[in-house]
Amino acid sequence: MGCLIVSEVGAIVGEGFYTYDGIVHAEQIALDAAAGRARGATAYISLEPHAHRGKTPPCTKALIEAGIRRVVCPIEDPNPLVSGRGFSELTAAGIEVSTGILAKEAAELNEKFICWHRKGRPFVHLKLAMSLDGRISLYSTVSTALSGEGARSQVQNLRHEYDAILIGGNTALVDDPQLTDRSGRPRRRPLVRVVLDNRLQIPLASSLVATARHTPTLVFTNGNDGRKIDHLRDAGVEVIFSDAGGRNLNWVLAELKERQIQSLLVEGGSEIAGSFFDAALVDKVTFLVAPLIIGGRSAPAAISGMGTESLEYAWQLTNIRLDKLGNDIQITGYPYREK
Ligand SMILES: NC(=O)c1ccc[n+]([C@@H]2O[C@H](COP(=O)([O-])OP(=O)(O)OC[C@H]3O[C@@H](n4cnc5c(N)ncnc54)[C@H](OP(=O)(O)O)[C@@H]3O)[C@@H](O)[C@H]2O)c1
Repeated sequence: MGCLIVSEVGAIVGEGFYTYDGIVHAEQIALDAAAGRARGATAYISLEPHAHRGKTPPCTKALIEAGIRRVVCPIEDPNPLVSGRGFSELTAAGIEVSTGILAKEAAELNEKFICWHRKGRPFVHLKLAMSLDGRISLYSTVSTALSGEGARSQVQNLRHEYDAILIGGNTALVDDPQLTDRSGRPRRRPLVRVVLDNRLQIPLASSLVATARHTPTLVFTNGNDGRKIDHLRDAGVEVIFSDAGGRNLNWVLAELKERQIQSLLVEGGSEIAGSFFDAALVDKVTFLVAPLIIGGRSAPAAISGMGTESLEYAWQLTNIRLDKLGNDIQITGYPYREK
């Protein structure tokens, strides 16, 4: 969320953006910077200012009291409890409100928050590194580093934007990943690690288990190895048991929602990626394509699962973005299908 205050003569006199919980909102930061110059100015804001008192005082009140003449803001707050109230309050105070400009871009900036309110579940972003021929590893039993340095540091930026990362039991076993945010920037809240692991393949000696006391780690399972579950719990892992275990992805997402996780980065492997597509639960994808050709029948394809029986049902991407990261190509987009 960002806010710019522009004076009557067109000069930017204040700017602010929301960083994380407990920090004053973008509007207040921008108004503080503008001080007396906010009178008669226009405020450009990326999301409807809130009219209610939450963790911070209402931003509408601050805008009105500062003497803002016009507010340009593309989209309403998606929270049905408050949606439209901010705009109504500003209009009632005599402020001119312009909406709809750059609405698509604003919706993308706020995509996680919008998904949380509209779909009632965390926003799901699937990220995979793959070769030119769409393989994510040499074999599903070995860890294969496909990405170059540029792509690897981009992954840290991506992780920084998410509340949780999810992997499958086989990736936990084979890759022994840390799944941490090493961007070096302060976080809104600790990154939660999630493993879907019915057979409880995750090794007790893995990095995830070893660090579970300091970094929240959830394992969804229907496994009945009571001793292993006890060891995992003793190590600080939260083991969440249900009959379907990790197989019921809607239930997994509902459990994550209960824990206030608004956004989820799914980092594979192939089976997990396929299950999320089969359940039509992927909101965004990022493929990091390395200039390598692996070939062979044993190398796992990026997306497994049931797949589609006809091209008409294949997932397509919209709003595609291509970036070159060293020798790798990053492809980002939003999956949809016509049928
Ligand atoms: N290049 C990349 O970006 C990348 C990323 C991650 C992994 N990898 C590689 O991919 C390979 C592992 O991939 P994988 O496909 O074999 O394993 P995976 O997707 O990591 O894990 C699959 C296992 O997860 C469990 N599971 C629980 N809930 C599930 C659900 N809803 N859908 C699907 N599976 C569920 C299943 O075991 P249970 O029946 O026991 O639950 C399943 O066998 C490794 O070689 C790894 O190095 C590459």
